[in-house]
Parts: sequence; C-alpha cells; structure tokens
Amino acid sequence: MGKTDAPIAVFDSGLGGVSVLREMIKVMPYEDMYYFGDSINAPYGTKSLEQVRNLTISHVERFMDMGAKGVVVACNTATSAAVRKLREMYPTLPLVGIEPAVKPAVERFPQGNILVMATPMTIREAKLHHLIQRFGGEANVIPLACPGLMDFVEAGNIDSPEIYGFLRDVLEPYKGRLDGVVLGCTHYPFVRRAIVDILGENVAIFDGGPGTSKEIKRRLDEAGLLRKDVQRTGQIIFENSDNSQQKQDLFWKLLNY
Ligand code: DGL
Repeated sequence: MGKTDAPIAVFDSGLGGVSVLREMIKVMPYEDMYYFGDSINAPYGTKSLEQVRNLTISHVERFMDMGAKGVVVACNTATSAAVRKLREMYPTLPLVGIEPAVKPAVERFPQGNILVMATPMTIREAKLHHLIQRFGGEANVIPLACPGLMDFVEAGNIDSPEIYGFLRDVLEPYKGRLDGVVLGCTHYPFVRRAIVDILGENVAIFDGGPGTSKEIKRRLDEAGLLRKDVQRTGQIIFENSDNSQQKQDLFWKLLNY
C-alpha cells in the first residue's frame, strides 16, 4: 500500500458498481483499477447486516493484501453495513463508500418530492435515515425498497418488457407527483432509461456515482497517491466470485453501456 502505481480497488455485490467504475475512468483514465464483484453472494440487499459486513470486510482485507492504494465501496448496501468499521480498521486509507445522493437532490428541490430507490437493507439501515435527517430539510423524501430490481441487471436484462413491467408496478403510485428520483443502488443507473420512460423526462434522476468518483480522486490526491504519468491509459482488471463467462461478458457490456 502507498505506491502511486498501485491499482484502486472497486467493489460491489455484483456488477452494479460498474456504474461507479465508468465514472471513475472518466475522471482518472490513467489509473489502473481492479474491480471485484461478489455475484455468487448477491444480492446483498436482502441479507442480514452482519452477513454483508463480514463479506465486505473480508473483500477489503484481500484488496489490502493485494496492495491496492485506495478502495471504493461501489455498493450502497455494503457502505451502510461496513464503511464505519472499515474506516476504523484502515484510518489512513483513501476509502470512499457510495451513499444515496439525497443531498444534491434536496439542494435542487428544497421543497420537492424525492423518491429514494434502494435495496431493502439500505432503506432499513440507520445511514439513510441519518442522511435524510441531516440533509432532508423541508423536502418530502420517500424511501422505497426495490427487492428484486438488481437481479434484472445481474442477468443483463436492462431493457426488456419484463423490466418495464416490474418498474411500472413499483413506480406507478408515484407517477405525476415526483420532482426527483435518487438511484440509491449502483445497479439502478443501468435501468435509468426505463425509469425515465415510465416517470417522464421532467423527473430529475440523481446518481451518486459521479460524486463518489470525484471524492476518491480528491482523497488520493490529498494522500499524494495519484499517478503523475497522466498520458497513459489505465488497465482495468475484472474479477468476480462467479467466474462465469456471462459475468465477464456482461461486465464489459455494462462498462461500455
Ligand atoms: N449494488 C448494490 C447497492 O448499491 C446492491 C445490490 C444487492 O446486492 O442487493 O446497494
């Protein structure tokens, strides 16, 4: 750890974190990135807090053994379960966990109706409730658990009639009365098109990926760990606990989506 030429580790329960990885590549195209998806154990969002915390910690321990210079927990669920513990374990490590973009949504619509779509665990855990308490102000922030939604993305099913049907069932009750939607799970940016088609173009969509990417860049810079040879093209390494060709192919497809 500590070397500028080491990779940045990016982690998600599956392939959702690719929506964060692609933003990281935009702001740091010269960095090497190691992406690990734990699709064998996914979904995390319907597991217990302790299970997700233990899984997340064991993955980050491995990234440390590999010599990663920074870590992005590109999973809102794993962030709510483990980020505090990880900060205690690695106080000097540039470590950023994604969280639902409630703050930018409320800044944009201080008195608006804002739907937060996320996994059951993210919706249940204290982290989101603190975020809403802290930044919610006078906005009407509505948490909505979406069990099952990430599975469509894991299966590569992002624009089929089934995903439109699923989202229509979930979103119909809110149609016509929302100003913004926070995508509080990193899988959901891949079904953004369907969400916009159902709710309409005038509903603003908030994704924490760009902010998270800027934040890890800032943290690495602060620690003197950004590469200096910025003309190079960084290498992207992909590994998944589900070592199937389907996950390999879908990873590259989503990265270029
Ligand atoms: N992508 C993850 C998140 O951001 C969770 C998906 C899951 O494993 O349930 O919350």
